Amino acid sequence: MSRDGFGSKLGIVAAAAGSAVGLGNIYRFPCELGNNGGGAFLLVYLMIVLCLGIPVMLCELVIGRKTQRNSIGAFKLLKPKTAWPVIGYMGVFCAFIIMAFYCTIAGWTLEYIIKAVGNQFQGKDLATIEQEFNAFHNMGWRNVLWGSIFIFLTAFVVFKGVADGIEKYSKVLMPMLLLILVVLAIRSLTLPGARAGLKFLFHPDFSKITGDVLISALGQVFFSLSMGMGVLITYGSYIKKDDNLATTALSVTLSDTLVAVLAGIVIFPAAFSFGVKPTEGMGLVFSTLPMIFNQMPGGYFFCIIFFVLLAVAALTSTISLLEVIVAYFVEELHIKRGWATVIASLGCMVLGVFASLSLRDGTSITIAGMSFFNSLDFLSAKILLPIGAFFTVIFVGWLLGKTKFFEEITNQGSLKLSVKGVIFFIIKFLAPLAIAFIFITGLL
Ligand code: PFF
Repeated sequence: MSRDGFGSKLGIVAAAAGSAVGLGNIYRFPCELGNNGGGAFLLVYLMIVLCLGIPVMLCELVIGRKTQRNSIGAFKLLKPKTAWPVIGYMGVFCAFIIMAFYCTIAGWTLEYIIKAVGNQFQGKDLATIEQEFNAFHNMGWRNVLWGSIFIFLTAFVVFKGVADGIEKYSKVLMPMLLLILVVLAIRSLTLPGARAGLKFLFHPDFSKITGDVLISALGQVFFSLSMGMGVLITYGSYIKKDDNLATTALSVTLSDTLVAVLAGIVIFPAAFSFGVKPTEGMGLVFSTLPMIFNQMPGGYFFCIIFFVLLAVAALTSTISLLEVIVAYFVEELHIKRGWATVIASLGCMVLGVFASLSLRDGTSITIAGMSFFNSLDFLSAKILLPIGAFFTVIFVGWLLGKTKFFEEITNQGSLKLSVKGVIFFIIKFLAPLAIAFIFITGLL
């Protein structure tokens, strides 16, 4: 079966964690946090991870492993001749959208590797680094080129089925990323004026919790954990019947959250120290980080290693996104894996061209007053992922039912699990209500 090429040999925790940990943690999380009230956002984020993240993840893994199908086939198998597979189709659509803007940023990590190797940050002040970053993201076609190269790299891995190799590397490289983040955090925390950044990150100002903050945090949790669009259904379908789904969900969630919080501890103290505004968005990360490297011994090497690791982290995420589309093409439309990969990546590339070009200042490629890039981000994280997650928990809570859910989680009763009642109560009542509430208040 063609899915074997990608999935069967994966250590599933590493694969799912590889999908989860990426630019969402190191780039998107600080941007969202900076724009949504700092500590208040962090608090809401952590609560959502705990109360909704883990249960929704379990639901997706259960659907995948139970059916051994891709995200559309799974619903077709469980509820044939109903509208439920629409959730799966939405996920595939969402994968295209995320790929388009995600690869744009991922492409920047490649440009930054080259800049780092050429020692192009050394000795420059913040204003110059910011100016160069602005000039860079205004160079539309150069972004298109890097983004396309990144999609090509992803396609190569998905096509060759060498995920097994990537897997082995990322087991070493991801802990390295964690380690380098710790080193950076220490440097950042010891910069003059770092305290203000820590305060911004960890002191919640409750008056800042608005509908906007709630929906941004909800979207960020789903985005960061790769949930609400079938990635974890697809990966769940590759998990062996005797693996433990609950510990998988827990370790993926924990490592993803740890990386995000660490990224915050790296970025904000340094940003406050250098005078970068927390609301700066893209520049927050791409200007602050090179400045930190400038201020540390061995910064030249750390900078290269960091951007290489970031590119690898992004790659393990884009592999999972492309895999959702390819698994659907192969298993439901019966297209050969090679062609499926080519068609899917070309589709992502075309959308990616518009996403990249829309980042130029004064762009006319806009939707509802937002740049095309931002509208893709908004549509996926704040609309499609919450809707996908909502229907997934409804499906498991009300249609699949408690017995079948726990049969799968406990491997037909061979694993012990406490707090079953609480978990299912969350899935059946709390999660759908909370997602619906946040979705509605956030969009009003
Ligand atoms: N979780 C990834 C990140 O945080 O970078 C991004 C992502 C991957 C989102 C896969 C959604 C997805 F299905």
